Amino acid sequence: MRSLSTEISFPDNFLWGSSSAAYQIEGAHDEGGKKPSVWDCFSHEPNRTFANTNGDIAVDHYHRFEEDVELMKEMGLKAYRFSISWARIFPEGTGQINQEGVLFYDQLIDLLIDSGIEPIVTIYHWDLPQALQDRYGGWESRKIIDDFAYYASFLFDHFGDRVNHWITVNEQNVFVMQGWLFGLHPPGVKDSKRAFKVNHIVNLANAKVIDLFHSLGNKGKIGPSFAYSPAYSVDSSPESVLAMENFNVFFTDFWLDVYVRGIYPSFVRKRLTDIGISLGELPGDDVVLRRGKPDFIGINYYQSTSVTFDETEPKNWSSFSTLVKGAKKVSNPYLKKTDWNWTIDPIGLAVTLRRLESRYQLPILITENGLGAHDELTEDGCIHDQYRISYLKEHLIAINEAIADGVTVIGYCSWSFTDLLSWLNGYKKRYGFVYVDRDDESARTLERYRKDSFHWYQKVIESNGLNLI
Ligand code: BG6
Repeated sequence: MRSLSTEISFPDNFLWGSSSAAYQIEGAHDEGGKKPSVWDCFSHEPNRTFANTNGDIAVDHYHRFEEDVELMKEMGLKAYRFSISWARIFPEGTGQINQEGVLFYDQLIDLLIDSGIEPIVTIYHWDLPQALQDRYGGWESRKIIDDFAYYASFLFDHFGDRVNHWITVNEQNVFVMQGWLFGLHPPGVKDSKRAFKVNHIVNLANAKVIDLFHSLGNKGKIGPSFAYSPAYSVDSSPESVLAMENFNVFFTDFWLDVYVRGIYPSFVRKRLTDIGISLGELPGDDVVLRRGKPDFIGINYYQSTSVTFDETEPKNWSSFSTLVKGAKKVSNPYLKKTDWNWTIDPIGLAVTLRRLESRYQLPILITENGLGAHDELTEDGCIHDQYRISYLKEHLIAINEAIADGVTVIGYCSWSFTDLLSWLNGYKKRYGFVYVDRDDESARTLERYRKDSFHWYQKVIESNGLNLI
C-alpha cells in the first residue's frame, strides 16, 4: 500500500472526538419515563439480532455517564458525539415531554462542557419511538415530518445554547435500506417500492429540520451523517469503470446530492423509473429539499467497495446492489479485512474526502471511523489493541493528507468511545477505547478498562496529531 507522506498538520481547533449512539450504550430501556423505541421491540423478537442481544442494559451509560465523561476528560477529548433517544424526550413520539429524560441530557451536556468537551448531538440514530410506528407506520407516513420537526425544535430550543454541532439523521442510507429493503432492521420489511418512498420522506424530514434550524436563527451548525463507501472499479476495463460510475451515483450521489443540492441525480431517477420504482414525490417537495442545505457533511467511513461489470439484469430488486445497472460487488485483492470481513482501506478515506470536496465544497466532519474487533482483557486488566491503533493511525494520516490537499475537515470522531452494542453483531464486536466487561450472554460487571488505544489517542490529541507518527 502506498504510504501517505505529508507532514502532519491538523488545524488548531480540530475537533478530536469520539462517538456513540443512545440505544447502543444507554441501557435503562424502561427507566426514567422512557417508553420503547422500535429497536427495543424489534430486538425482543426472536432471532432478529446476533444471539438475541439487545440494548436493555447495553453498557449502562445511563447510570454511569459520570464515570464515562471522567474517562473522556482524562483522555483529553475535545468533542463527544452522542445521540438523544427520542423516546426519552417524547415517550409517545410527540406531545408530553418527559422531564426526567430532558434532565439526563442536561446533566450529560453540562458535565461535558465543564470537562472541556464539546457535545455533538445526533438527533436521530435509528431509535424511533415505537408509539409512532404503531400510530401511523413511522417513516412510512408523511406525518412523521412534522413530528420529527417538533422533536428537533424542542432540542434546539432547550439545548441550543450549549450545542454547536447537530447531526440531523445518522446514516439514512443504512437505516432505510436495512429496514425496508433487506428487512434486517426495524420494521423488518423487504419491499423496494416502500423503501424508496420511505427514503424520500426521510429526505423531506431532514431538509425541513435543517431549514427550521436556520430560520430560527440558531447558533451552531447542522448537517446529516452519511455512510460513505467509495466504489472502485475492479480493473481498467471501460465496462467496469462505467459500472463503478453507476455504483457511486446510486450509493452516494443519490443521497448527498439531495442533501446538498436538493435534487435527485438524473441517472438514478431514470433507472428507478425504468424498473417501476417511484420516489413518491408530491408537488412542492422540491422546494422543501432545496431549502434544507446543510452547513457541513458528516461522514461515517469504514470501508471501500469494489465493483465489476455484470450484464445479468436481475429479476427482482431484493438487494440494493441489484438496482444498480450493470454492476456487481467483488472482493478487492489489494485490501486486508477485519474480523468481520470489512475491507481496511485508509486511502479510501482520502478518496472519499477528495470526492466530497470536488462535488460539494462543504466542510466535513468525520462522525464515525473505527475498527470492530475481538479484544482480549488480560489478567492484569490490559487490552493490547495494537491493531486498532494501526487502523486509526492510518486513517488519520489519510485525513491529514486530504487536509493538506485542500479539503476542509473540521473534526474526527472515532467509533466508538466505550465498547457498545453492535446492532446486529452483539457485544463481541468491540470498537471502543474503553473496554466494557460484558458479553453477549450477560452484563457481567460492566467495569471499564482503558485499552492501549486509549493512551495512544490521548497522546495524539495532546500533540494535535503530531504524535501520530
Ligand atoms: C454505523 C452506525 O453504521 O456503523 C453505528 O452508525 C454502528 O451505529 C457502526 O454501530 C458499526 O457498525 P456495526 O455493524 O459494526 O455495529
